[in-house]
Amino acid sequence: MSDQSQNTLSRRDLLKAGAGLAAASALAGIAVPHVHAGEDNTIRLALVGCGGRGTGAAGDAMSTKAGPTQLVAMADVFEDRLSSCYKNLKGGFDKQVEVPESQKFVSFDGYQKAMDCLRPGDVVILATPPAFRWVHFTYAIQKGLNVFMEKPVTVDGPSTRKMLKLGEEAVKRNLKVGVGLMCRHCEARAELYKRIKDGEIGDLTLLRAYRQTGPGGKMPTPPKPDGISELLYQIQRFHSFLWASGGCYSDFLIHNIDECCWMKDAWPVKASASGGRHFRGNFIDQNFDHYSVEYTFADGTKLLLEGRNIDGCSQEFASFAHGTKGAAVISHSGHSPAKCRTFKGHNMTNDNLAWKFRDDEPNPYRLEWDHLMAAIRSDKPYNEVKRGAEASLVTAMGRHAAHTGRVVTFDQMLNHDHELAPEVDKLTMASAAPIMADKDGKYPVPMPGKTTKREF
Ligand SMILES: NC(=O)c1ccc[n+]([C@@H]2O[C@H](COP(=O)([O-])OP(=O)(O)OC[C@H]3O[C@@H](n4cnc5c(N)ncnc54)[C@H](O)[C@@H]3O)[C@@H](O)[C@H]2O)c1
Repeated sequence: MSDQSQNTLSRRDLLKAGAGLAAASALAGIAVPHVHAGEDNTIRLALVGCGGRGTGAAGDAMSTKAGPTQLVAMADVFEDRLSSCYKNLKGGFDKQVEVPESQKFVSFDGYQKAMDCLRPGDVVILATPPAFRWVHFTYAIQKGLNVFMEKPVTVDGPSTRKMLKLGEEAVKRNLKVGVGLMCRHCEARAELYKRIKDGEIGDLTLLRAYRQTGPGGKMPTPPKPDGISELLYQIQRFHSFLWASGGCYSDFLIHNIDECCWMKDAWPVKASASGGRHFRGNFIDQNFDHYSVEYTFADGTKLLLEGRNIDGCSQEFASFAHGTKGAAVISHSGHSPAKCRTFKGHNMTNDNLAWKFRDDEPNPYRLEWDHLMAAIRSDKPYNEVKRGAEASLVTAMGRHAAHTGRVVTFDQMLNHDHELAPEVDKLTMASAAPIMADKDGKYPVPMPGKTTKREF
């Protein structure tokens, strides 16, 4: 890392010039530091990965109550994604989006150019598929930038080890880093966590989580058509390729796993699992259609996780906790509102209801930005990398157990040597893809019990 970024200066130290002061201090509920006349108090943003979530995260960043923000640079590897994202954000936020053509970058090294448009202390949003997260985060640290990075932040042992080191480096440099596990910012879940800690449902004995829906995201993938490179096709369909995303398991199930582990206040020490492929039709992705996982915590408590990506079955998208005195809803149907509740028994009926969070539950996607920006502006320690990397690792541990058919421990997963996307930092538009299709256009898939040392 360059010496230039060896700073632990606060944002105020970094910003000495600029135009008028915006009305940050008028904002209710957020600790906004005193800003001196003549300082430019606008935090500039760059967006790397201009897809669905990148657009949403940039919108949330520009909606924050914690002072003015402005989007000034964007990067993607697909021009059409970048331009539609720009159009949406410009339409919604107008003057807060000032991205000249010269600051829109379509290339694999566009992330560097976009970050070069920022000043130390500004914020870069990393919202590509997770394979690129450590690459982009490395450069952000070099540039002295604060970061918001989407989950998962890693897909395997080697990338988790890198991310943990980078997280420590970011802490040393006093950079603020938010990770898009927004449920951790949910006020309803936070109150439930406290109630569980206070013994409202007794000692926790079991956690259960479900994400049983149809095939989501970019999971149902037909063979590559002509007119797009193998690499770009795999990136475009990233839920289908384990190197890019950890597959639908890592991408979809991480939130439910993480919120359950939050309530337990621990990470599981091992996972065993099963899963399989059923109705594949013409689809060539590497995922299983269902996953059934038993996570075990150090005290023997279990987290049972059911993931299913099959249409036409009953659907559930929720997490629950059970204790010696009752039960709790951690999330009810999707991420927000969580509709957290506690019950006096294990039948979750109105008769048994002990407590429920109020109906006007604040949106955690907004809260995560209010918290990050407030920390930046008041120069308070704020770094979610370790927790985000560990949540990503625990998620990969369950996936690895299902894909290999073996029990996998936390330590085995952390120290595993299979890097799904080696040298992802060197990719260019002309590069070969990290995995190649066979002569029938199919990619290697997990074979539990047969391929046991790695996932494929
Ligand atoms: N927190 C949440 O609830 C939530 C919800 C959705 C997605 N996500 C996460 O956000 C990330 C993106 O998901 P999405 O749904 O927005 O996908 P998406 O495909 O809509 O967007 C990803 C964008 O990144 C671009 N991209 C890919 N590789 C790139 C690279 N090397 N450099 C620059 N741009 C690159 C793609 O072209 C695409 O435009 C994933 O990690 C996903 O898990 C989080």
